[in-house]
Formats: sequence, structure tokens, C-alpha cells
Amino acid sequence: MSAQAQADEAVRYVRTRISGTPDVAVILGSGLGGFADGLEDRTTIPSHLIPFYPGSSVEGHKGELVFGRIGGRRLLTVRGRVHFYESGDLNTVLFPVRVVAGLGIPLLVITNAAGGINRGFVPGDLMVISDQINMTGLSLPPDIPLRLRRQHYYDADLCRFATSTAAGLGIRLVTGVYAGVKGPSYETAAEVEMLYRIGGDAVGMSTVMETALAVALGMRVLGISCITNKATGTSPAKLDHSEVTIVANRVKENFSLLLRALVAGLATHRS
Ligand code: HPA
Repeated sequence: MSAQAQADEAVRYVRTRISGTPDVAVILGSGLGGFADGLEDRTTIPSHLIPFYPGSSVEGHKGELVFGRIGGRRLLTVRGRVHFYESGDLNTVLFPVRVVAGLGIPLLVITNAAGGINRGFVPGDLMVISDQINMTGLSLPPDIPLRLRRQHYYDADLCRFATSTAAGLGIRLVTGVYAGVKGPSYETAAEVEMLYRIGGDAVGMSTVMETALAVALGMRVLGISCITNKATGTSPAKLDHSEVTIVANRVKENFSLLLRALVAGLATHRS
């Protein structure tokens, strides 16, 4: 059975659990899963109930879809994404995107934790993604027709909307290019220097393929990174995973505040 046919079956099941088509889908990155707890009228769908839906194994990730509302907007959040380094299988990584696109959701907000390459960024900053560099060596699966593949991923109007919304809330939101790598090892200082020279502002182990697929399947995408650490070599401090979780935890209130305001405004926002 093809990945798309499996996702179609998942879509049929999810439709029986939610009412209507959500306005926005949100993929929650490392340490940011708590956002889903703030939804009103929540319906939680554990991933094991959804046909063919992949499980997640990394600490701090919980596999489920949470449907709910913020203000008048309906949203579907994806909690507990599976990274490529966990499964080694791109179709597993992309499954939730096939599902949210299959549900007919027009907008995707994709979030992640990332290391700051840009020297002007400090841990705790939020970054709106203006563009991406795919360093994973992966490309979309062959069932995605060439004519659907794009090279403009992050919607410029949504970026501007995020910037003005953050300014209105007094939340610092920087803008930058996200370099996606396979991981799971953190980069060497030389690798970070390379990513800096080719135009990267932040580096992380997710997002680039999910975004590429979402755009190919017709969704508009807004990407937000939480800068959890200075990337290797850009500070004397040694990097470990606990720092990523601790900082994500520290900024989650601001992050939730911004995301709530974005979702509330997004569905009415027209380009
Ligand atoms: N590198 C790659 N991925 C990351 C980092 C990093 O420094 N921080 C959080 N995710």
C-alpha cells in the first residue's frame, strides 16, 4: 500500500473524530508540545488509534493529534513529530503532512527548535523562517509529481504578518534562513561555519522536507524556530540536548502567546 493510500485511510479516520475542516494545522517542535494544552474544546487523538500513523520515540515528544479551537479558529496540532534520524524513513517523517494536507487544511504553521548560527541571535529568540537550505540530501518521494515541486516555500505575507503580530505583542522575533540537516549528532564547528557561509541563520534536524511536501500539496506555510542554543563553535559553551529542552521550556509562554495570536489572525489574513 502506498504512503499516500495509507495517509488517505488516516484522513478518513481523523474526519470521524473532528468536526469540519480545521483552518490551520500546527506542527509542534521539541519542547513546544505544551501549546496544545491551551486549546479550547480539545479532542485528543492518540497516534496509535490512527491507521498507519507512525509512533515517536524521542524524549519530550508525544505522538498525537490535538484538535481544538483558539478564539473562533479551528486548529489541528501535531504533537510528537518523528525525525528522519529516528526512523530513517522519509515517508514516516512526512506522514502527518500528508494527513493535514489530505484533510484540506489550507495553512500550516511549522515549528522547531534550532541552533543559532547568526551571531546576533541569542538562546530564547524566536525566528520566523524566510527560506530554507536543505542539507539533508533528501528530496521528496517519487509519488510527488515534478510539476507540484516548488522552490518558494515560506509565504512572504505570512512572514510579514508574524513580524507585525510579534511586534504588537512586544515579543522579539528575528528573521532568518533555516538550514536543515539530518542529525542526530550536533554539527561540528567547521560544519556550522560552512552553514554560516552558505547563508544559514539557524540549524535544525527537521522541517525542510515537511515544508517542501506541504507546499507541493498546496498548503501555505509559516515556519517558526525557537533558537535554543548557539550552534557549535559560535560560543565557548558545550552543547547538549538538555540545553535545548531547558530553553524551549523557558520560552514556551512567549511562544504560545505568539502562536495563539497568529492562529487567531491567520485564517482571516489574506495575501
Ligand atoms: N543543531 C541542530 N539541531 C538543533 C540544534 C543545533 O544546534 N539545536 C536544536 N536543534
